[in-house]
Amino acid sequence: MHPMLNTAIKAARRAGSVIVRALPDVDRLRVETKSRHDFVTEVDRRAEELIIDTLRGAYPDHGILAEESGASAGNEWEWVIDPLDGTTNFLHGFPQFAVSIALRRRGRLEQAVVFDPLRDELFTATRGEGAQLNDRRIRVSRVAEFGGALLGTGFPFRESDSLSQWVRLFERVACRTSGVRRAGSAALDLAYVACGRLDGFWETGLKPWDIAAGALLVREAGGIASDLFTDGDPLDSGNILAANPRVYGHMRAAFADPGAADTG
Ligand code: IPD
Ligand code: CA
Ligand code: CA
Repeated sequence: MHPMLNTAIKAARRAGSVIVRALPDVDRLRVETKSRHDFVTEVDRRAEELIIDTLRGAYPDHGILAEESGASAGNEWEWVIDPLDGTTNFLHGFPQFAVSIALRRRGRLEQAVVFDPLRDELFTATRGEGAQLNDRRIRVSRVAEFGGALLGTGFPFRESDSLSQWVRLFERVACRTSGVRRAGSAALDLAYVACGRLDGFWETGLKPWDIAAGALLVREAGGIASDLFTDGDPLDSGNILAANPRVYGHMRAAFADPGAADTG
């Protein structure tokens, strides 16, 4: 295993322990509101500190882009960190959240870890070497018909988000597929596309730390992860479409209808 991936796994497992230990006392946690419906707790912060300490201990020159503490410049390598993806779920004891850590070199994704500490599921990928779940190779699903596809998504929930755009996109796929799920952790949704539990996923308004690791997992598992409306980098726009190649084609066609990209 690549030593940088190994370090990321160590960091993710440390953060996962902090998160799981805090879960029984979640009612007593101090919760701050970053913006309406967007929360942060001391657990998010503590987990992020542990991750950064672990990564910095091994690679002191690397840059960092982390959700809670922001960006710090480094050399051409940059860690992209979401210490707890699915904070709202965590706060409700809804068992769907994960630690997400990716490594980019000059903007290209190289390593990925998404760790679900409750199920002890560790999703990993190295560029060009495939993706794994708990050390076993994973691949995207083979579902080819749109009618047989199970999709994931995320609803807009911030005031600045466009709900009407999401509704337009949802209308284009809802009755044509086997179902649409909104589980509340974009990083895990993408990991589920990578291992074939979901056949496709879309969401808008995301941040690089929500999707960096998940995008590499999907690609290394044989899927496609792109901008929702273009072939661009979803980490730039925050709008992602990820799926197995057949379902990706169906979703692209469905979302390409005139007006789908309008945010009004
Ligand atoms: C959130 C989760 C959620 C998605 C939001 C993200 P957070 O991350 O990924 O599924 O819908 O857009 O912000 O805030 O829990 O790290
Ligand atoms: Ca997140
Ligand atoms: Ca987070």
